[in-house]
Amino acid sequence: MPTPVNRQIVLRSRPVGMPKPGDFELVESRLPAPKDGEILSRTLYLSLDPYMRGRISGARSYAQSVEIGQVIVGATVGEVLESKHPDFAKGDIVQGYSGWQSHGVAAGGTVRKLDPRQAPVSTALGVLGMPGMTAYVGLLDIGRPKPGETVVVSAASGAVGSAVGQIAKMKGARAVGIAGSQDKCDYVVGELGFDACVNYKKGDLLAELKAACPGGIDVYFENVGGDVLRAVMQLLNMNARIPLCGLISEYNATDTVPGPNLRPLLFNRVLVKGFIVSDRMELWAKAPPELTAWVAAGKIKYRESVTEGLENAPRAFIGLLRGENFGKQLVKL
Ligand SMILES: NC(=O)c1ccc[n+]([C@@H]2O[C@H](COP(=O)([O-])OP(=O)(O)OC[C@H]3O[C@@H](n4cnc5c(N)ncnc54)[C@H](OP(=O)(O)O)[C@@H]3O)[C@@H](O)[C@H]2O)c1
Repeated sequence: MPTPVNRQIVLRSRPVGMPKPGDFELVESRLPAPKDGEILSRTLYLSLDPYMRGRISGARSYAQSVEIGQVIVGATVGEVLESKHPDFAKGDIVQGYSGWQSHGVAAGGTVRKLDPRQAPVSTALGVLGMPGMTAYVGLLDIGRPKPGETVVVSAASGAVGSAVGQIAKMKGARAVGIAGSQDKCDYVVGELGFDACVNYKKGDLLAELKAACPGGIDVYFENVGGDVLRAVMQLLNMNARIPLCGLISEYNATDTVPGPNLRPLLFNRVLVKGFIVSDRMELWAKAPPELTAWVAAGKIKYRESVTEGLENAPRAFIGLLRGENFGKQLVKL
């Protein structure tokens, strides 16, 4: 029997600055039938993540670029339609990396089976997936917050940032968010239990951040860079730590971005460490059970922005780069 018609979003042109819908193209094809050791799945959810902007840019990075005409990469949750691997059966729900397409064929060893009774399966792409792991690794391994310290996180209502602040609270620290709207700030404080949140698009960011962090900043979990980083730098305490996780304000830049003044790092003996979540694979065994238990107990809450239809993935991705998502951005197929 032939495999079902597969709808794919492929890269049509490399974006310059903010991506445009015309940089992407929807095409149809048929996948090869799964071979021994492989599974065929139907995509239920596609994860949209900021790192995809780097993959379609063609610039040198830690991972291989998507070439023109290739399907855009991405993590997915899917239902197994056919299995030629002993560990999977038709109907199983799996998390894999099919990318922006309606179906995928993958080696059984590259996907993990999900238990829908444990948590909604979409969380495998957010709070219980790579973004949750990123928060866990960056905050606990590099930030190392101590009780009473102040942890500031940017993109605070997002997939990574929301988990960072809630884990910081569990470790006895004060959590202060920075986000791009009053609604996002209200959610971060009212729903997630952060101590304060500053809207960086309104008012005097430095003055408001100073008021929210009267004792200065001990850990800054960096997700955005640019003006936000410049303001934070002026409030860093002695021996502060900066897990350098992302710089989303620069991902569409067409020119070199002016850097911040580094003097506060020197004077305050600040540790800045860039990291990629996959650096600490050994924590991938320890963290998921702990994150799952925290989510089940309501200690970590999460929110999802769900866009319907594969054809709307490009617009949703552009929206993510504009801050239109409110929580983990997913596409439901
Ligand atoms: N190092 C790693 O291994 C790793 C892994 C995962 C993610 N990351 C990084 O973590 C960061 C957050 O990722 P996420 O998946 O959790 O995304 P997210 O926060 O759910 O969504 C992205 C958010 O970034 C903010 N943003 C967009 N453009 C901005 C700009 N010009 N200036 C400031 N903020 C802007 C927007 O929130 P506002 O409305 O609040 O501005 C937007 O909602 C990204 O930088 C990403 O690259 C790194």
